[in-house]
Amino acid sequence: MTDPLLLALDQGTTSTRTIAFDTALAPRASVQEELPQHFPAPGWVEHEPEDLWRGALATLRGALERAGGEARRVAGIGITNQRETTLLWDRATGRCLHRAIVWQDRRTAAACARLRAEGAEALLTERTGLLADPYFSATKLAWLLDEVPGVRGAAERGELAFGTVDCFLLWRLTGGRVHATDATNAARTMLFDIRRGCWDDDLLRLFGIPPAVLPEVRDCAAEFGTTEPGLLGAPVPVRGMAGDQQAATIGQACFEPGMVKSTYGTGCFALLNTGETAVTSRSRLLTTIAYQLGGRRTFALEGAIFVAGAAVQWLRDGLGIIRTAPEASALAAQADPAQRVVMVPAFTGLGAPHWDAEARGAIFGLTRGAGRAELCRAALESVAYQTRDLLEAMRDDWPAGAETVLRVDGGMVASDWTMQFLADLLGAPVDRPTMPETTALGAAWLAGLQAGLCAPPGVAGATHWRLDRRFVPSMGRDEAAERYALWQDAIRRTLTR
Ligand code: G3P
Repeated sequence: MTDPLLLALDQGTTSTRTIAFDTALAPRASVQEELPQHFPAPGWVEHEPEDLWRGALATLRGALERAGGEARRVAGIGITNQRETTLLWDRATGRCLHRAIVWQDRRTAAACARLRAEGAEALLTERTGLLADPYFSATKLAWLLDEVPGVRGAAERGELAFGTVDCFLLWRLTGGRVHATDATNAARTMLFDIRRGCWDDDLLRLFGIPPAVLPEVRDCAAEFGTTEPGLLGAPVPVRGMAGDQQAATIGQACFEPGMVKSTYGTGCFALLNTGETAVTSRSRLLTTIAYQLGGRRTFALEGAIFVAGAAVQWLRDGLGIIRTAPEASALAAQADPAQRVVMVPAFTGLGAPHWDAEARGAIFGLTRGAGRAELCRAALESVAYQTRDLLEAMRDDWPAGAETVLRVDGGMVASDWTMQFLADLLGAPVDRPTMPETTALGAAWLAGLQAGLCAPPGVAGATHWRLDRRFVPSMGRDEAAERYALWQDAIRRTLTR
């Protein structure tokens, strides 16, 4: 095969994209589509399964065409995806029985509160590394089985298939021949024992899930079957799969214990590689599978914060004080350095390590001298403060390992001002890679690894990671400490419990 291509299909919360990479993992073509959102009730978030499928197929075809390639040139597809989002479909027709229930959906909050009250959270955390929160798939799947008429009986008769987005797209791509997921996506369902690497019977009983609906769980780099010949012009092997934050960890080449990456999109997800140890968090971080290769699981501690880039969107769409996101950085740079405005962007509650769903946003330290620039600065600073909260929690949980360099990616890292402030506040270097699309890069690498085109981790000199810029701390330690103390005080005043 001359000039093989790798296709990374990245199905995210708000958009679907496919990037075609060459075997040196340089991007050759990219096609993206927005994904419509549905909010049928307060706190409910759904995606139309046919939108997920259409977007996946259209972007795969578009990227292949733009790369000037034929399906025969594709050595592998890597799928990466918004995690936890839950689908249930009919094995005979391939049709879903309900819209996908998105990870952000809070409809099962009461069920989770019941689990906590009944003392079931300890078992969940021990087996899955997660918390009793609606974020994960198990209570969403239980809701579908209980609330959609006729579904439970059909599920028990083996007529239905459950899957996260990766699994659903794979099913469709392979014409219903393969019902499989990978270990990182399975790890987010709250039904998977991350240490034993299998579905957990006790949890299936707890949530009333018939085992017949479950997919097979494979490595992240594996043979996942081939696409239906008619879809892309020829059968193409699917060879990689990982949840998007895990794929970003791979794209950032965080292969050594102690390496940590942080992705800044709408929210922010930080993952610390803890090697073969699944570290139990005392700080309400999540323990999760970073990747599974050759049957061996590598674990991570994960911190999720709900609002990062969304704070800048609020400056633009809510307050109307900027027209474009880059304006926030320019204004922040002009803010009066003597002002101490602190914004806690708890628009949808606070995630790790606070997990306070009832908290709401607050701004402290306003004076008559505070204006647009100070508000922009406070919004950007809040991203750095929240990151420091996560890294402090990681250090508490795993004092042995946390390295001091943070690898960053996602839309917000284009802001030099924010990245410099982050380095200042952490008192540690912040590394921005040349390739900002680390999630797609990770998925392409997985497919390339399986195809024998990419070197496994640890091969000297073989890395797909390149430094664009290192931000080194330049703020005095006293000032950084004083600013962080103000943030901690603001958090204390915002928490509801
Ligand atoms: O856990 C949710 C996460 O995977 C969503 O990521 O980038 O699609 O918002 P994103």
